[in-house]
Amino acid sequence: MFAKIAVAAALALASPAVAHTAPVPSSGYHGLAATPPMGWNDWSYYQCNIDQKLILDQGRALVRSGLAVKGYNTVTTDDCWMTKTRDASGNLVSDPQKFPDGMAYVGRQLHAMGLKFGIYEDAGTQTCGGYAGSWQHYDADARLFAKWGVDYLKLDGCNVPSIPGQSGQETYRQAYAGMSQALQHSGRKIVFSESAPAYFQGTSDWYTVLGWVARYGNLWREGTDIALGQESGAAKWKSLLGNYDYNAPLVKYAGPGHWNDPDFLLVGDSGLTADEMQTQLTLWAEMSAPLISSTDLTKLSPQALSILGNRDIIAVDQDRAGVQGTRVVHTGTHDVLTKPLAGGDRAVVFLNRGDAPLTIGASAGTLGFGKAQHLSGKDLVTKRTSSYGSSVTVQVRPHATVMLRLRAAG
Ligand code: GLA
Repeated sequence: MFAKIAVAAALALASPAVAHTAPVPSSGYHGLAATPPMGWNDWSYYQCNIDQKLILDQGRALVRSGLAVKGYNTVTTDDCWMTKTRDASGNLVSDPQKFPDGMAYVGRQLHAMGLKFGIYEDAGTQTCGGYAGSWQHYDADARLFAKWGVDYLKLDGCNVPSIPGQSGQETYRQAYAGMSQALQHSGRKIVFSESAPAYFQGTSDWYTVLGWVARYGNLWREGTDIALGQESGAAKWKSLLGNYDYNAPLVKYAGPGHWNDPDFLLVGDSGLTADEMQTQLTLWAEMSAPLISSTDLTKLSPQALSILGNRDIIAVDQDRAGVQGTRVVHTGTHDVLTKPLAGGDRAVVFLNRGDAPLTIGASAGTLGFGKAQHLSGKDLVTKRTSSYGSSVTVQVRPHATVMLRLRAAG
């Protein structure tokens, strides 16, 4: 995913002047994504094996399962929907075999189901899969997406050329600012997902990039891809813990209209145990992460459906205060996180990372309440309510989480 190609110095950057001083919009880019985006994306489960029927079948499954009305409303066609080259006029072309009726048709069908239409492109010369990229075509591509009824753009960052005399992060900034401006002029409000930070993970520029993405878009992938559908359950568990670990410290970058994105939910036909699936949804909700499923929704088990559809946990993710939960305990075996919610409650998570059952406790003070405060609350999975003293202790199975919605008692 992180391959970059150098191109001739003569290749000029076509982006408009970058609005380096643009403030972070208080209500989010385009006034969109006041709460984290939710929906479905084909990539982890299907990669390039997609076509129009599959995408629309998944849209229908979102509606039929009841997940759409719970907020999972954006269906995104990831890489490989287009051909490798543009047409004679320089336009992107959808693959005629995979999408015989074209992308505008897909958009119309999704809209008729009450869903939103998401699409993938890349800021560089080619997508990560080697298809036509948007480099030097931001304005035309944004206009085309608007014409197709696109509501959400995921702009990846493979193959962004090196520009002599310019640092990599400056080139990425110009590129993402360029597409951001192009979307603004496209005549349609389009949620903008920027993958720029993922290309700087592990370098000193990572925080620089994380510092500017909110000016130009609504969410960003900031790190390694989550495991693919065909990988083992064990690999997926390791991968989701890894993505959680790099996302958890990034609290200050998230807020209404601008969100950290630790990648897809693997809940579903994935080889993960029920506890592991629950753990991913719980952690993602606690971190105000986008909830974007990547599985085959047409054969979702009742168990996976009830995990994805847990209204109490979705409400934590979608809480209007939009504060990403903070990790207040982090050991080799367990973590504790606390997230302030609008209205004064807190969502608290106890995670057992290890292979043996654990008793995990935390004081009211550690959880963000007054030190002597007695607490009461509800387990958001079992729905049991309990009263506590000024500390909370829970039993947690291996690889499981307990999520409580707590309030100051009395
Ligand atoms: C990158 C992204 C993935 C997916 C693929 C498509 O790896 O991180 O989410 O979009 O590209 O090629």
